[in-house]
Parts: sequence; C-alpha cells; structure tokens
Amino acid sequence: MTKYAVITGASSGIGLEFTKLLAADGYDMLIASRDGKALRALAKELAAEHKTKATPLAIDLSEPGAADRLWKKLGAQKVDVFINNAGFGDYVDVVNSDPATLERMIALNITALTQLSRLAAIAMKKRRSGSIVNVASILSFVPSPHNAVYGATKAYVLSFSEALSEELKGTGVSVTALCPGPTRTGFAAAAHMEKSSVMQSSRLPTGKEVAAFGYEAMKQKKVVAVHGAQTKFVSLIAPRILPRSAIRRIIEKVQRRDS
Ligand SMILES: NC(=O)c1ccc[n+]([C@@H]2O[C@H](COP(=O)([O-])OP(=O)(O)OC[C@H]3O[C@@H](n4cnc5c(N)ncnc54)[C@H](OP(=O)(O)O)[C@@H]3O)[C@@H](O)[C@H]2O)c1
Repeated sequence: MTKYAVITGASSGIGLEFTKLLAADGYDMLIASRDGKALRALAKELAAEHKTKATPLAIDLSEPGAADRLWKKLGAQKVDVFINNAGFGDYVDVVNSDPATLERMIALNITALTQLSRLAAIAMKKRRSGSIVNVASILSFVPSPHNAVYGATKAYVLSFSEALSEELKGTGVSVTALCPGPTRTGFAAAAHMEKSSVMQSSRLPTGKEVAAFGYEAMKQKKVVAVHGAQTKFVSLIAPRILPRSAIRRIIEKVQRRDS
C-alpha cells in the first residue's frame, strides 16, 4: 500500500523540500498552504518527476476551524507522516505590532499545529504507527526580542512536541520537533526580516538542507532535531555557560534592527 503524507506550508521553503523527499520515497500526499496556484504547479512537478499523487489544498490555516477542514479533506485516508511546517514570524517590537497579525501568527503557529497534531496522533495511535514532524526553531530555546511573539510560539511548539512524544511512547507513533536556525527561504521576506543581520550571512543553510536533516531525524524517531552549529550553541552550550540575563541581552543585540 502506498505510504501517505500531509505537509502544511508546502508551497515554499522547507515544506516544499519535504514534499520532494517524500515523493522520492514513494509517498502520495496532501499538500496544503494558501497559494493554490503554487500547490497545483508543485503537484504537477511531483507527478512528472516521481509519479506522485499529490492533492493540493488551498487553505488558510490561521482561520478558525481550518484544522478540522483539512482533516475532513483526508476522508478515510490513512496518514503515515504528518508535517506541521506552515508558520510565519513578524520582525517588529510588541508595542509596534499589529494585533490582527499577532492573532493570525498564534492561530497558525500554535492553534492549527496543535489541533492537527492531535488529530494525527489519534489516528496514528489507533493504527500503532506514524510520524509527526513539527517545525520549531532556534528561537524555541531562547526569548526573542524584536520578534517576541514568534519566538514564544516556537517555544510552545518545542514544549508541546516533546510532551506529546512522551505521551505517545510505546504506541509506535513518533513526534519530532525540528529546530532550524536562520535558513534561506521565503521566511525572511514574510517576517519583514530581510535587512536583519541574522539573515545576511552568505552561509545560511537552504530549505533543502534543513528538510533533509529533519527527514532523517524523523526516520530515526528523534524527538528534538537541532540543525546547525548556531542552533546547537544556543540550545546546548549557551544555557550551560551563560546566565539567562546574558543570553537574552545577546539575542536582543543580534536581532536589533540595523536601520
Ligand atoms: N527560514 C528560517 O529562518 C526558519 C528558521 C526556523 C524555523 N522556521 C520555520 O520553518 C517553517 C517553514 O518556513 P520556511 O522557512 O520554509 O518559510 P517560507 O518559505 O515562508 O514557508 C512558509 C510556508 O507556510 C505557508 N503558510 C504561511 N501562512 C500560512 C497560512 N496562514 N495557512 C497555510 N499556510 C501558510 C506558506 O505558504 P502560503 O504563503 O502559500 O500560504 C509557505 O508554504 C515555519 O514554521 C518557520 O517558522 C524557519
């Protein structure tokens, strides 16, 4: 029987690269994001290159009830892999932020991811098999001044995913929190971060590298998958050698607007 995957945020960046890896491994899939045109083009590309049956679903996952609508679209389809990848940030101080944008960010990065993880976990637990990948961040480990709400949503993703993985221990269902550092994708433009020094480095990894790392971690059933030296430093070394007050001051400096 053909294996089946769901990928949110499949139209670009890390999510798009996940679809290619899954297609190369023989998965059929549901690919979801807001941009139906990009998804239809991707479905055609995956069919031509890998004979994949990819079903595009144009959906705004920040809308109320969106997780249920996505799940209903699957019908009786069994899901082997569920990748909660859709997410966005907004590089702005809290006092200058737009409340509607914050609401959409929390709805997408937290609410949709939670509801979809829950639905996937219920179905997978019944079948005693499946893998959930939730895309977290380097900012899951530290407070994120000038991008505070985004960082807090990603701290949630890590905490939630680790807890869920423990709850599912011994059921045959794995949960992996993928924690990338700054990565060259559409993320910086969507977060109004193009000018940030964090995104300026010419050595930023690509979405392809991060997805390949995450895919391997999922196969190995790793619970926390930390990508890149910078993220390893922030998550593992910095908390051992620096007080929290120093860590948040450093992050503030690094993320301070250059303009
Ligand atoms: N790039 C980085 O530096 C970085 C670092 C750490 C973590 N991450 C995380 O990695 C994940 C993937 O981001 P990326 O870097 O690949 O950025 P990206 O290229 O901007 O991709 C984001 C994806 O999410 C989708 N999306 C955005 N809003 C949506 C909504 N309301 N409903 C449904 N889909 C939506 C976008 O598609 P549409 O526009 O078509 O909806 C797109 O496919 C995100 O969770 C992000 O927070 C990124």
